[in-house]
Amino acid sequence: GRSRSAYAADGRVPFGAAIQTELMNGDPSYRELFLKNCDLVMPMNALKFSLLRPTRDIWDFAPADKVVDFALGNGKTTRGTCHVWWGATPDWVKAIESPSEAEKVLVEHIERVGDRYKGKLRGWDVANEVVANDPLYENRSLRDTYWLRVLGPRHIPIAFKAAANADPAADLVLNDYDLEYQGPHYDERRTIVLSIVRQLQDANVKIDAVGLQGHLYADKVIDVDAIDRFHRDLDALGVKLIVTELDIIDWKSPAGAQSQDKTAAELVTRFLDAVFAFKAPELVVSWGLTDRYSWVNDVMPRPDGAESRPLPFDRALLPKPWFETLRKRL
Ligand code: XIL
Repeated sequence: GRSRSAYAADGRVPFGAAIQTELMNGDPSYRELFLKNCDLVMPMNALKFSLLRPTRDIWDFAPADKVVDFALGNGKTTRGTCHVWWGATPDWVKAIESPSEAEKVLVEHIERVGDRYKGKLRGWDVANEVVANDPLYENRSLRDTYWLRVLGPRHIPIAFKAAANADPAADLVLNDYDLEYQGPHYDERRTIVLSIVRQLQDANVKIDAVGLQGHLYADKVIDVDAIDRFHRDLDALGVKLIVTELDIIDWKSPAGAQSQDKTAAELVTRFLDAVFAFKAPELVVSWGLTDRYSWVNDVMPRPDGAESRPLPFDRALLPKPWFETLRKRL
């Protein structure tokens, strides 16, 4: 069944996409694609710590403002990513060795940024990718990051508390990857997420949702039952499920649009079956819209050198079959 979503008034599950600020002034068809196809448009990078505050003295809100104004000015909603992330901690912060100074910088950052966009951003990925990449192998539950080293696991409640102080109405999200697959490694990652949620709640710290990034790998097996159980476990804790960074990483299918798009459609169908089994998620966001621009092209290219086809629209801005599949479910 469908549950009412806080993101869309009509109870439909809204579809959103992350936009790259630096591309917004170029090709108008890029902006058009978002306006035509999205309920939500969010900055892909502009709200990350190291871009907002690259040095202690420089705050650069302009790129994020541009996306927020673009979204709200065109009747869309928007949301933010992310306060705590190993991939966007600026060097000047990493040089801080004193825990009390680090805590002060973190809290000030989250409060200042949260307050600036209060009432505009529907929610925030407060902590992104804090679960250890391979917890069983590494024999640890949290990723070894600057924030963990300087503050310990308490950096997570510190961040959520600051975010709640700054914008009490924002949906506060714990966001992570590799929560979608079959196997002990992925079971362990889901268990760790649930235990972080419980620890926050036991400490009376507000957490509203867990974000499944949804980077779908063709060479991993999506675990429908485990995702369903995870969704139910979150619901029992009063925490919602959202999909935050949907795209396809396919190193497996024979090269070519037809075979890769067939794999993508199968992956998305299975993923949506899992995510929707218990009840509809609150929101589904894809990590970009067109294959012309994607981190997958740069960071996760196919080993055979063939073109990656990670996103709902191809390089000619035509929708893939999986976008139609997705749209039927949302
Ligand atoms: C990526 C962006 O897509 C790139 O443009 C940027 O250079 C690095 O970050 N998981 C995440 C996202 O949580 O924030 C990452 O986004 C992709 C992987």
